[in-house]
Amino acid sequence: MTIFLLIATGYLLGSIPFGVILTRLFGAGDLRQIGSGNIGATNVLRTGRKGLAAATLLLDGAKGAVAVLLARHVAPELGADAAMIAGAAAMIGHCYPVWLKFRGGKGVATLLGLSLALAWPIGVIFALVWLGTTLLTRISSLGGMAGAVAAPIAALALGQRSYAVGLAALAVVLLWRHRENIARLRAGTESRIGGKTGA
Ligand code: G3P
Repeated sequence: MTIFLLIATGYLLGSIPFGVILTRLFGAGDLRQIGSGNIGATNVLRTGRKGLAAATLLLDGAKGAVAVLLARHVAPELGADAAMIAGAAAMIGHCYPVWLKFRGGKGVATLLGLSLALAWPIGVIFALVWLGTTLLTRISSLGGMAGAVAAPIAALALGQRSYAVGLAALAVVLLWRHRENIARLRAGTESRIGGKTGA
């Protein structure tokens, strides 16, 4: 029973579309009509509101972290698997929120947040790969995908087998959510941070 409650709570937490809420609340327009139409921090940045983008990144990350920490706090007897499942539920909630007809985000911030809460060294490696790739290429989607792929590899290297399996599954979801970005990367048309506003 507890695990179902944790999954439901994680999903509902993850499904809060902070990017959409903040941009609407602070008069930055309808995020789904801007740039890539995605509800994440990168697209909020395209509105020119850096503070809102930072807040979206933090809050979307917090959704994943809180789901994991809640599982650990409420049901410590269920162990690491419950924390992984609750975090995964938050990521699924972010990518497929019922409130937006299941058309949500791509999961980078939420996956980073839940990785940090699961085991901070995994989260730190995710963040370093993400930031490093993004700074080098100025392509946010490439950084997010590289960080997400690095996370299960880091988990495996750190001997966290069950996290490695869960994070690998979530990385697949994240890559699937980035399929349009991947097509643009292949075509050489993916937008760069600080470049022309676009998809
Ligand atoms: O976090 C989402 C990012 O990886 C890609 O966003 O708006 O460039 O499709 P976007």
